[in-house]
Amino acid sequence: MNTKVSLGDFAAMKQRHEKIVVVTAYDAPSARLADAAGVDVVLVGDSAAMTVLGYDSTVPVTVDEMLMLTRAVTRGARRPFIVADMPFGSFQVSNTAALENAVRFVKEAKADAVKLEGAGPTLARVAALVDAGIPVMGHIGLTPQSVTMLGGYKAQGRTAAEANRLRAAAIALESAGCFALVLEAIPAPVAAHITGALRIPTIGIGAGVDCDGQVLVWHDLLGITPGHVARFVRQYADIGGAVLTALTAYAADVRSSSFPAAQHTYAMANEEIERLQTDPAAEPSVTRSTD
Ligand code: KIV
Repeated sequence: MNTKVSLGDFAAMKQRHEKIVVVTAYDAPSARLADAAGVDVVLVGDSAAMTVLGYDSTVPVTVDEMLMLTRAVTRGARRPFIVADMPFGSFQVSNTAALENAVRFVKEAKADAVKLEGAGPTLARVAALVDAGIPVMGHIGLTPQSVTMLGGYKAQGRTAAEANRLRAAAIALESAGCFALVLEAIPAPVAAHITGALRIPTIGIGAGVDCDGQVLVWHDLLGITPGHVARFVRQYADIGGAVLTALTAYAADVRSSSFPAAQHTYAMANEEIERLQTDPAAEPSVTRSTD
């Protein structure tokens, strides 16, 4: 269980019908917890734009911001395979730009792989990166970086024609060299059809149980996302509620002076207190204690 997950494990897991567990994370303590929980892949998703950086979509997040988050995650996790999401604008322009940015994720942030959204022009980028020795995860269906083109955050592939286009895109991404493929927000029968057509594993999010693995966004899974969450999310805890309760109690304790209590403060010898009170200009003591 402690051996680092490696690239070769994914196709083998698919063959053994062993589900691949993926979760997003954006900082070292979360990555450490994902590792301790036995998660196989940590995705430093560009969902970070919204979940931790406060943007209203994934579009504005920059390579430098994603690099900082990826570095934190790779410092926190040991066993999981770490995939860094390449943000909008970092790979669309040319193969050269895609390669330059992907190299930064691998060299500067120690990512094991990168993820690229889309098919079409993305196919050439995948091939260029894989040729350069950088493993690539694909992502089709609802691709949030193209949310304006897609007309909003809505399910994709709901007609036979659209489903066939997605299947063709999936096969093309596999041929271009992707080692795994995220299928986001597509009907379960379409995801099952695509999964059956590929040798590489599919990782579903809102794509049904027949995908080879599943991914959820950290903040959705743990109940930290405020307001509406997508119908495909199962919330496993109410961490947002627990944090709010704790912070409210802390604020009340500070305001009522019930925090800090005696056990949260440092002791001082009585004679030193007396000296301090009678002679505020007393020489500093040579001995220091932190007890
Ligand atoms: O950015 C992200 O978190 C993702 C997952 C939802 C697959 O791309």
